[in-house]
Amino acid sequence: MHTPSREKIFQMFDSIAPTYDLVNRVMTFGLDQYWRKKLVRSLPNEGSLKVLDCATGTGDLVVAMMEGCPRITEMVGLDLAEEMVALAKKKIEGKPFASKVAWQVGSALDLPFADTTFDVVTIAFGIRNVTDVSLALNEFKRVLKPGGRLLILEAALPQNNILRSLHLFYLRHILPRVGGWISGAKSAYRYLNETIETFPSGESFCHLMRGAGFKEVEVTGLTGGVVVVYSGVA
Ligand SMILES: C[S@@+](CC[C@H](N)C(=O)[O-])C[C@H]1O[C@@H](n2cnc3c(N)ncnc32)[C@H](O)[C@@H]1O
Repeated sequence: MHTPSREKIFQMFDSIAPTYDLVNRVMTFGLDQYWRKKLVRSLPNEGSLKVLDCATGTGDLVVAMMEGCPRITEMVGLDLAEEMVALAKKKIEGKPFASKVAWQVGSALDLPFADTTFDVVTIAFGIRNVTDVSLALNEFKRVLKPGGRLLILEAALPQNNILRSLHLFYLRHILPRVGGWISGAKSAYRYLNETIETFPSGESFCHLMRGAGFKEVEVTGLTGGVVVVYSGVA
């Protein structure tokens, strides 16, 4: 399988959908679920919440938020990849919160929602995949109510030189092999390390958020900085 252009990236995700969760658990040693729970702790701590989870994939962040924050009254999970959304739907069948969750196939670059609809917009391991990051940030700002919160969970490279070298070795040499072996699509996991290495992170990404009109922009590193949470207020 060749690495597709970013425009076609959702087709790549459709093709790896059946093994997506398993590869995540194996290649992060289960830490991916811990990172999602950390994002849940950054949700606003009062009032009822209407939340949009963009690039929801197989819905793991939706599940973490619905289980960790009972104040969420409405949740929409949106993704371009139909197969990922189908798995997300199946994942929450029979869960007590299922009736509060709606799923939508759509793009973060052209959100099918009116202005000022949501209290919170989240995106986990998704912003790196969109073709126009500033456009996506503008869309998040548009659909958030004034004072609403944007929370972004994303892979990054540690600041510490030793950790950074070790992590780069893992990303370049181990992760594509393990991901490729389980999913049968080595290029998908080569794509992962290439985008992590080139995507703007830390202060550069905070600058993009401020450019889209977000205030109180903060970045918090997790697990030595291999993952970061960005937070901003609309
Ligand atoms: C690495 S997965 C992350 C899935 C999930 N958020 C998680 O935490 O596992 C990235 C997702 O971004 C989606 N995606 C890429 N571009 C998108 C866009 N423009 N709009 C919506 N989803 C997009 C892909 O289809 C894929 O499901």
